[in-house]
Order: sequence, then structure tokens, then C-alpha cells
Amino acid sequence: MDNAARIEQALERSVSLVGKRQCPPKLINAVRYAVFPGGARVRPQLTMAVAAACEEGDSPLVDGAAAAIELLHCASLVHDDLPCFDDADLRRGKASVHSLYGEEIAVLVGDALIVQAFQSIAESCGENPQYLPELITCVAGSVGMKGGIVAGQAWESEDVVDVKEYHCAKTGSLFVGAVSAGALAVGSDPQPWRQLGSKIGEAYQLADDLLDALGTEEEGGKPVGQDASNCRPNAVASLGFQGAVDRLNKTVGEAVSAIPDCKGANGLSSLIAAQAKRLVPAKAATQAA
Ligand code: IPE
Ligand code: IPE
Ligand code: MG
Ligand code: MG
Repeated sequence: MDNAARIEQALERSVSLVGKRQCPPKLINAVRYAVFPGGARVRPQLTMAVAAACEEGDSPLVDGAAAAIELLHCASLVHDDLPCFDDADLRRGKASVHSLYGEEIAVLVGDALIVQAFQSIAESCGENPQYLPELITCVAGSVGMKGGIVAGQAWESEDVVDVKEYHCAKTGSLFVGAVSAGALAVGSDPQPWRQLGSKIGEAYQLADDLLDALGTEEEGGKPVGQDASNCRPNAVASLGFQGAVDRLNKTVGEAVSAIPDCKGANGLSSLIAAQAKRLVPAKAATQAA
């Protein structure tokens, strides 16, 4: 089974753990709606790629960790789209969760996905419970209030914001978590992978800022022009259009150079190149050419 199919199966398994009788129907329907169909699933792809580069063979814990990372990402998107954050009515080319199910359910979908993520790790540990403390600490750190997604979103409520720190927390941290979780789920040292995660996260946020400034709703499947209308610090505002494109190209190069010497290096480098190409809006690509 290829990694894309493994990810969908692991997500399906995790979401189906929720018994229908115990979960109110609107909530479970909205949870499924938030997770399926997905976007690029790039973070769990990284988790699986790093695990495979560290260790031969599949392990249920790798699948559980990859699913957890994607569930946390989906939760962050549901909460990010709420009226109190970005007030976005479109996500992944369809109505955002709160636009369809209402704000109360959307808040609870985010909560449920966060809880489900950690349950997914715990329930897939099989013969390797000894990996859980470090794995859970790492994944929790990548989304928490100390430099994780929660911190990233909270920077938007501060008067003085360091853009680099804001972007590292909002986007970079989950990429670092994704690669580190891949190593930890097979009992390997995550340290050699952290720089790769951090550079991919940086590139991703630069591309997302370009998409927001120059892309179309059709390209991204979500509203554009939000950074300007919500006064969010962003790379296009701070570096200018060409500066942001140059920084993106440089960062993608740094990400590729940060891949540790390993048997999966070629696959990882193609994954990064494909994502970089996918994320740069057509207008930015032609103007920069
Ligand atoms: C969007 O992430 C939010 C950012 C952190 C830039 P993705 O572009 O990975 O979203 P999906 O999962 O593919 O929809
Ligand atoms: C999203 O940041 C990062 C999250 C923590 C969800 P943005 O608000 O910039 O991302 P999009 O453009 O809505 O996907
Ligand atoms: Mg936002
Ligand atoms: Mg947003």
C-alpha cells in the first residue's frame, strides 16, 4: 500500500474509533467533513517518509503518528477559519466547517480532532509503548502554547509581533513535529530531522503568503487577500513580492540541503520540490520567471 493510501486508512480508523451511538450526529458528520477529503496531506507524508528513512518496515505507530499530525492540522484549519480568527467561508474548495455546521459545532470539531489525535497515537502503539512519552511530548509541543500552533495563533492578538517567531509557531512547528514524530515512532533520534522540518515550514508559510497576496480562490481553495484585510504580518508585506519569491526559492534550497544523508533522501527531495511547485501561485511563477 502506498503512503497516501496508508494515511487515508489511518485517518479513517482514527475517526471511526468514535462510536456512532456516543457521538451526536452533527458532530461526527462535521468531524468527517473536516478531515475528508483532505488537502495535500503533506505533513503525514513527511512523517512516513522520515520513519521509512530511519527504519525498514511498517509499524502501526508510524501510521498512528502520521494520522495524529494530520488531525491536528485539520483542527487548526477549522479553528483558524472561525469568525473570531480569519472568518473564512471556504476551505479546501468547499464551505468551511463553521459556515456549514455553525460556530458551536466548529469549535467542538477542533477540540474533538485534537483529542482524537492523541488517542490515535496511544491506540496504535502496539508493541512499542516505550516510544510514547517522547512521541507524545514532541507532538504536543508542536501544537501547544510554547512555540506551537496555539502560540502562533495567539501572536495575532499581540500588538508587537516578530514575524519570524509568529510564522515558526503558526506553521513551522507542526512541520518540525511531523518529521520528528516520524523518527520517534520508530525509536530514532529526531534531532537530525528538525532543521528539515523547520525549513519546509518556513518555505510553506512563504508560499502561503504569496498565494494569499497573488493567488486566486480557485488555486488555493480558500479565500485570498486575507492577510491584508486582517492586518496579519506576512512575508509579502515585509519583503515585497520579489523579496518573498527570492526568499522562498532560497528556503526550498536550504530545505533540500537539510535532508540528512539517508536512503530516502531522493524521495524526500522530490516531495519538497513537488510541494514547492504546487504552492507557488501561477501569477507569482510567471512574474518571477
Ligand atoms: C494550510 O496548510 C495552512 C498553512 C499552514 C499554510 P496546507 O496548504 O497544507 O493545507 P491543506 O491540508 O493542503 O488543505
Ligand atoms: C494557518 O495560517 C495556520 C494555522 C495555524 C491554521 P493562515 O491563516 O495563514 O492559513 P490559511 O491561509 O488560512 O490556510
Ligand atoms: Mg490565520
Ligand atoms: Mg487563515
